[in-house]
Amino acid sequence: MIELNNINDKLNLNNGVQIPCVGYGTFRTPADVAEKAVSDAIANGYRHIDTAAVYGNEEAVGKGIKDSGIDRKDLFVTSKLWNTNRGYDATKKAFQETLDRLQMDYLDLYLIHWPANQKQFGEDAAKINAETWRAMEDLYHDGKIRAIGLSNFMPHHIVDLMQTAKVAPAVDQIEVHPGWPHTEEVKYLQAHNILVEAWAPLGGQGATVMTNPTILQIADKYGKSAAQVCLRWVIQQGVVPLPKSVHEERMIQNKDFFDFELTDEEMEKISMLPNMGGQCADPDDVDF
Ligand SMILES: NC(=O)c1ccc[n+]([C@@H]2O[C@H](COP(=O)([O-])OP(=O)(O)OC[C@H]3O[C@@H](n4cnc5c(N)ncnc54)[C@H](OP(=O)(O)O)[C@@H]3O)[C@@H](O)[C@H]2O)c1
Repeated sequence: MIELNNINDKLNLNNGVQIPCVGYGTFRTPADVAEKAVSDAIANGYRHIDTAAVYGNEEAVGKGIKDSGIDRKDLFVTSKLWNTNRGYDATKKAFQETLDRLQMDYLDLYLIHWPANQKQFGEDAAKINAETWRAMEDLYHDGKIRAIGLSNFMPHHIVDLMQTAKVAPAVDQIEVHPGWPHTEEVKYLQAHNILVEAWAPLGGQGATVMTNPTILQIADKYGKSAAQVCLRWVIQQGVVPLPKSVHEERMIQNKDFFDFELTDEEMEKISMLPNMGGQCADPDDVDF
């Protein structure tokens, strides 16, 4: 693995674009909180911000970015296409609306938030994903997005997508945390040169990952918090974590996990922990 020493050390995407190895998450950050939270995160050193149309906070995220005074080119901004806007024309329209809300003229990374699945769309699911991706490719070729990718796509969705894709996805953002490691999927994505981003790297709201005795024991050994152990476990797999916190002291804590290294045995032990909650959603089974 490339040596990473801080949250803004870069990893290469498969098209040569560089991405800061830790992102700041904004899911469940209400619009009236997001402006300050994002500008606080940037003031505390974060340069990679992850939002989505469905979070309802793109406008506030854009304002927080403006307030920070940091040059747009020094930030890496991701947003995602929501499920109600799949298809060629709707994707292009929704993308422009995202840019308008963020007050930006390009995105660093745009993701299809969830694959259309067979449960909802039957045999049409693959065709819908292909048409959505074709719009993403055209936006990419138009220079409006520096890299395009996926979220919550499992290997079989990617196999289907690659039947017609002309641009390979640069990223897949999936749920990865202790108790929900998605080990086989991470291996598949990395073998196909698709960078993995971990959503809910701390387990997300309501999970008990951070009070797990194994995690706490390892945290104690290194003089670190449970959150820092989770983030370290994610990044040691070459996966980009996207921790979210609206509290400044936690934003600071969530950057500080580059001064210790988990042993192979500890990595394995954490990877084998049982499910401790989280969304744990199966993309083939969701009905949103
Ligand atoms: N692509 C997708 O489908 C998808 C789905 C979900 C999330 N995401 C992205 O991934 C990001 C991260 O996921 P997430 O927000 O669900 O979960 P997360 O980052 O794993 O966990 C966030 C929760 O942990 C708390 N927390 C943060 N730092 C902490 C610390 N150091 N100690 C104790 N508690 C801490 C936060 O509370 P406070 O804020 O109160 O500190 C919040 O309740 C999202 O924000 C979003 O950008 C993507």
